[in-house]
Amino acid sequence: MTTRPKVLIFDSGVGGLSVYQAIVEHLPQLSIVYTFDNEAYPYGELEQDVLISRVTSIVVSAVVKESIDLVVIACNTASTIVLPSLRAELSIPVVGVVPAIKPASLLSNLAVGLIATPATVTRQYTHDLIQDFSPHQPVELLGSTRLVDMAEAKLRGYTIDLQELNCILAPLRQKIDVAVLGCTHFPLIKDEIQTVLGKEVLLVDSGKAIARRVAQLLMLDIGRIYKGKREKHKIMSSTIPWEEMALNVELDKLGFGVIQNCPFRRDV
Ligand code: DGL
Repeated sequence: MTTRPKVLIFDSGVGGLSVYQAIVEHLPQLSIVYTFDNEAYPYGELEQDVLISRVTSIVVSAVVKESIDLVVIACNTASTIVLPSLRAELSIPVVGVVPAIKPASLLSNLAVGLIATPATVTRQYTHDLIQDFSPHQPVELLGSTRLVDMAEAKLRGYTIDLQELNCILAPLRQKIDVAVLGCTHFPLIKDEIQTVLGKEVLLVDSGKAIARRVAQLLMLDIGRIYKGKREKHKIMSSTIPWEEMALNVELDKLGFGVIQNCPFRRDV
């Protein structure tokens, strides 16, 4: 392994940046390559076989090209189905992100709300998680692509319409005391979700747990003071339509260079 471990963080869009933030906060010594498949976004509405072949193809190519030491699939929707095929193709660790049902259930006295993509709330993986880790606490499911779009818009400088958010989250109101942000896009609009659900609802996401897992696999001390040079991290997308340029302003603040096109060819 290189002296500065290189980690690939992958998502369909900007959602994985919430995981990136948790990782760099705790492990600033890492070199990050963030890759997102905006050409096939949103993943929450993609056929399973297309999703598996796209993610496997893009991630494997990027790992080889960028000499990556560890992969984080910073997407719940993809993680619920692609991890086995990805691990079969790669000899480096692959960390997935799945909804934090277990900690949420332990914290809840009423019911847990799972807010995720339409795909994640229907996956067998998610239903097994609920059965295994929330056997006594009811879990209310809410799948929404519009919420994902709202997070994408926020990163491009748009303000979230709280009335619309209120309508989307209305089915959960008064029913839950803990909400799982089961899509990596949602921590990016956490403040707005908190405003709408009320401060008595606890919001839980997987960011910190992922950072801990990455540290463990790379055998790094979490929170160690880093004195090395802080270089810009790399960011690549599968397509660069003109509006992606609006993202560069936010990405610069987060420590990235300008978005580049993925330098690999996919078969799908
Ligand atoms: N950020 C992704 C997730 O965690 C999916 C968003 C999408 O493309 O639908 O599920």
